[in-house]
Amino acid sequence: LTVFNSLYADSYDQLYASKNYQGECDLIEAGFARYGNSPLRTVLDVGCGTGTHVIELARRGYQMTGVDVSPHMLELAAAKSVDLDLADDPTWLLGDARSFQAKGPYDAAIMMFAVIGYLTGNEDVLSGLRNIRRHLKPGALFMSDFWYGPSVLTDRPTDRVRVLESPGQQVIRASNTKLDIVQQTADVTFRLWTLKNGMVESETTETHSHRYYFPQEYAFFLQQAGFRMENISAFPTLDDPLSDQVWNAFVVARAI
Ligand SMILES: C[S@@+](CC[C@H](N)C(=O)[O-])C[C@H]1O[C@@H](n2cnc3c(N)ncnc32)[C@H](O)[C@@H]1O
Repeated sequence: LTVFNSLYADSYDQLYASKNYQGECDLIEAGFARYGNSPLRTVLDVGCGTGTHVIELARRGYQMTGVDVSPHMLELAAAKSVDLDLADDPTWLLGDARSFQAKGPYDAAIMMFAVIGYLTGNEDVLSGLRNIRRHLKPGALFMSDFWYGPSVLTDRPTDRVRVLESPGQQVIRASNTKLDIVQQTADVTFRLWTLKNGMVESETTETHSHRYYFPQEYAFFLQQAGFRMENISAFPTLDDPLSDQVWNAFVVARAI
């Protein structure tokens, strides 16, 4: 993998400090409550990144396994979870969505923050979903969000610069996006600088190739992999309808 290398991973939690992980875990639990057949306990997070959902859900009593293909992201996740005094320490597993092997079978799986978008080819999507399905009990839930095609095409991504300030330190991230309408991908090139007291300490560039999906193709991929789509809504809700104003779609699927 050429993305989520150590310099980018090191800034990840700072870049997404304002992301509402608590609220997303509320959404996941609301999905469990509404669609789960019985109380859920074991949950697999595929593309767990720095582990923020895993840790929050472990705090709420779930037995968590986090899988990620980036050793840097996983290392940060594991470091965050030590000394938390959790009833069940999370299990961290380095692996690709398409091929990892965890114990299981699990009661549920999640794939949050459009991780499915990193699987860009049809075969990759199918192997990822099939591998997740293989790790689940029949009837288990699988929740994921993706970049919603109609919105990506309506509200096209523009070049952006973000500056994050903390005492004595700045992180600057410039992003440039190129859409490939036939492949349904957005290639986002991030240039990231970290500064200490105004002096550049590090600089890195990564291009994240990201697929956006349309509802019917996603339902079809899920079906081919042994799932049924139970609900699709505007992220981060279970009930708001999709619209081209909303960048992410949230899907609840069931292993059949
Ligand atoms: C945008 S981050 C999301 C991390 C986390 N789910 C969150 O919500 O903060 C995407 C993550 O997906 C991981 N990833 C990308 N492709 C993957 C693959 N094929 N298998 C497993 N993880 C993958 C990356 O390493 C990265 O940690």
